[in-house]
Amino acid sequence: MSLTRKHLLASAVCAWAVSLLGVVSAASQAAPQPPMAENVYLNVQVLKGIPVDRFNDTMGMFASALLLDCVGCHDPKITSDTKAFAIATPRVRRARQMVQMMNAMNQMYFGGQQRITCFTCHNGDPQPERSPSLRLQYSALVEDPSSMKFFPDIAAPPADQILAKYIQAVGGAQRLAAVTSYRATGTYIGFDTSDTEVPLEIFSKAPNQRTMIAHPPVGPDLIWTHNGKNAWKYQPNTPVPLTEITGWSLIGTGIDAMASYPAALGKAFASWQVGFADIEGRQVIVVRGTNPNQSPVNLSFDESGLLVRLVRWTETAAGPVPVQIDYSDYRELAGVKMPFHWVITWTNGQSTIQLKDIQPNVAIPESRFARPNAAAPALAP
Ligand code: HEC
Ligand code: HEC
Repeated sequence: MSLTRKHLLASAVCAWAVSLLGVVSAASQAAPQPPMAENVYLNVQVLKGIPVDRFNDTMGMFASALLLDCVGCHDPKITSDTKAFAIATPRVRRARQMVQMMNAMNQMYFGGQQRITCFTCHNGDPQPERSPSLRLQYSALVEDPSSMKFFPDIAAPPADQILAKYIQAVGGAQRLAAVTSYRATGTYIGFDTSDTEVPLEIFSKAPNQRTMIAHPPVGPDLIWTHNGKNAWKYQPNTPVPLTEITGWSLIGTGIDAMASYPAALGKAFASWQVGFADIEGRQVIVVRGTNPNQSPVNLSFDESGLLVRLVRWTETAAGPVPVQIDYSDYRELAGVKMPFHWVITWTNGQSTIQLKDIQPNVAIPESRFARPNAAAPALAP
């Protein structure tokens, strides 16, 4: 099941609306610990004790699991008054009961693991099916490279061989080792720029430091930073303009940055599995990397050996949600091939990055990867 463009757009509009909520206190911005959802939002009753990034990703799980956009549950007034997210509509109240039901089932029957999630039952439908599907039973199975379930295929070549082919396809170990940093310029389009194309700059150092800065025509920049240890997202005019990235998401944003350094990526996981899958009718080999207590990462390679998709998962209060990055438009620089087109898709939005120029091995001061300045002036409403 995939989200249609329409669904994506509708939920993206909502995500933008949330980002206009103006209810944060100065104290929560200054606090060293990431603020909890109940300290930032107005009427949090069941999703308490989780940081804001995880709360927002939980809303992504709700929307994606039921294929509803934000107004599918929330009061339609959210489009003009973002405080209206706090209104307890019948569906919001029903969803709160569902959170309690899900938690009780997981507690009672699955030793407290998040085995049952909203998606387990809803599968993209507010009214889950009760009768099995003959169409499903009698049709050919197509493996989804973005599925969290993974079916290793014994006929597939070993992971080492696929990763070696990847290193070869992008220029070989020696040339790759010579690239240890880059500065790139290009464009960014996302819900957070109201789907307008804006200039983008990327600074990156091997193996996993990266700062991306999008420059809207007016107002402060949007900033995403991973300094190798911590990560932040700076989005002006959100309840918490500076969101600290936590948990699987923190590790995951580091993996995203590492995808620019294939040799490092190939050493980042303790164990590997290999299977086959399909992306838009094209067969890909999927290599899944796993580390204890982290999200698995699915890397899909095309027949020429290039990485075409990376999928990882983020924890929410209602189970894991996927983040998918599709890479294309590989071009050669200093003897190394790099993807110039990235499409990032997650449960409440999609962003597109088109790079125009990449300069390898430029000196980048460490301050480029510092925590973005939370005191930076927010856009006037
Ligand atoms: C399936 C129903 C459902 C969908 C879809 C949904 N939400 Fe929610 N939302 C809830 C529930 C339930 C709560 C209350 C959580 C609690 O009490 O802990 C909530 C609370 C919120 C809050 C906190 C409001 C406050 O001030 O207390 C925000 C913000 C929010 N949702 C944003 C969103 C966004 C953005 C989307 C779309 C991406 C979305 N929601 C989609 C059910 C939903
Ligand atoms: C064990 C299965 C199961 C799980 C888990 C589950 N639901 Fe449900 N949910 C149902 C069923 C069954 C209904 C009733 C649908 C109907 O009336 O046909 C329902 C109804 C709902 C409705 C009302 C939909 C409507 O028709 O207006 C909402 C909203 C909802 N669920 C949200 C959630 C959310 C959010 C989660 C995850 C926290 C969740 N559910 C988890 C089974 C489940």
